[in-house]
Amino acid sequence: MLTRRAFIGQTAATLGMVMSGRQVLAASHAPAILTAREATVQLAPDGYPATSIWGYEGRAPGPAIRVRRGERVQRRLVNNLPEPTSIHWHGIRIDNAMDGVSGLTQEAVAPGQAFDYDFVAPDAGTYWYHAHNRSWVQVARGLHGPLIVEEAEPPQVDREETLVLDDWLLDPETALIDESFDNPMRMSHGGRIGNLITTNGQFDPAIPVERHTRLRLRLINVSNARIFPLQLAGLRGWTVALDGMPLATPEPLEGVLVLAPAQRADLIVDVTAEAGETAHLVRLGNDDRPASQVAFPVSASAARTPRAAPAALPPNSVSGLGSLADARPLRLVMSGGAMGRMNSAVLGGERLGFRDLAARGRFWAFNDMAEMTQAPLADLSLGERVRLEIVNETVFPHAMHLHGMHFREIRDGRPAGPMRDTLLVAAQETREIGFVADNPGDWLFHCHMLSHAESGMMTWVRLT
Ligand code: C2O
Ligand code: CU
Repeated sequence: MLTRRAFIGQTAATLGMVMSGRQVLAASHAPAILTAREATVQLAPDGYPATSIWGYEGRAPGPAIRVRRGERVQRRLVNNLPEPTSIHWHGIRIDNAMDGVSGLTQEAVAPGQAFDYDFVAPDAGTYWYHAHNRSWVQVARGLHGPLIVEEAEPPQVDREETLVLDDWLLDPETALIDESFDNPMRMSHGGRIGNLITTNGQFDPAIPVERHTRLRLRLINVSNARIFPLQLAGLRGWTVALDGMPLATPEPLEGVLVLAPAQRADLIVDVTAEAGETAHLVRLGNDDRPASQVAFPVSASAARTPRAAPAALPPNSVSGLGSLADARPLRLVMSGGAMGRMNSAVLGGERLGFRDLAARGRFWAFNDMAEMTQAPLADLSLGERVRLEIVNETVFPHAMHLHGMHFREIRDGRPAGPMRDTLLVAAQETREIGFVADNPGDWLFHCHMLSHAESGMMTWVRLT
């Protein structure tokens, strides 16, 4: 097992390499640079070979970007990869031109080229950035990183940890299995689920803490397709935000927190385990067998004692949904996948049978369309209220993500539940979301199981 110190040492060494090879960083007015490039990192435990990845600044996760709410983010993406790429700033209510969707909001950045991203982060919260060209390959290779927007007055905690949860599909030599990206079996089932699970690019990490310490944990699921069911052990905690947006009231985290691909959760946790014990962020396996996602070895504390429940985080200023009486109703029917009932769907203007679709790498459809088309799912006008029914006819769960705007779930005709940007829709389940279409531009709506998005589960709305 890698110790935390070894991990930090390794990161520092990698960073040193980047810095020395990149004098351009010293230039005074140039924006900070994010170079997407190949790198070799130690993902698997010590004793196993290192893994060749793609990462921002050669790291996976890439460097954490931190700003205060309302501040500007400026980054120059330099593409040193062998293929075109772009960066999407997931969850940010962003200027459409900066959304980073290759083929929709910008051209992908060719190898050797650069692109300047420049936007304001209007809301505090935990966000992330990731490649949005051939995402199912590029994100799986490691092109992702945290984007943290701090509250004007952050909550009182003793320390904060960002925990980037990921999985990697590696062969016995710990190389990424390339053929698996386009593997029809994976595409038509649960997606590309890895066999090595990491936190911050590390297998089974440990974070030493003192008893009674209050921590803020920012959890980000950057994996392609893995749903993380999480639990606390030796920690008493509250969920204070989901997908960046504060909950009106912190919710005690007593049961299981389900984090679907692309979702985030902000937790405030107190270390309740005794000195000498180890607290855990626990991951439940498929068979519900618990494993340690992150270990927190506990040492004795000075004089701290248990504290009162945390207060809610200060709210962001997202438009409230208001009345849904005259909201525009939309419907999205998801079909396909293994064991599905999709007999045919439209691809390239032609109706094709399941076999022909599969031969062209399409396994899923939205409203019978097996690809994103020139025509949006809906043309919306600015300020319009929308209610979107999502009907999952497949036997797989899907993590549905809307770009550019947060939404709330609608139950019994009323806004219910927290504001989110990614909703996990279970197999054969129907859910409804509502949002105010207040951000002009072209916005994707897709499954964040990225091989599903690639093989048919992607559409968009236009807002003018
Ligand atoms: Cu996080 Cu379209 O993606
Ligand atoms: Cu999906």
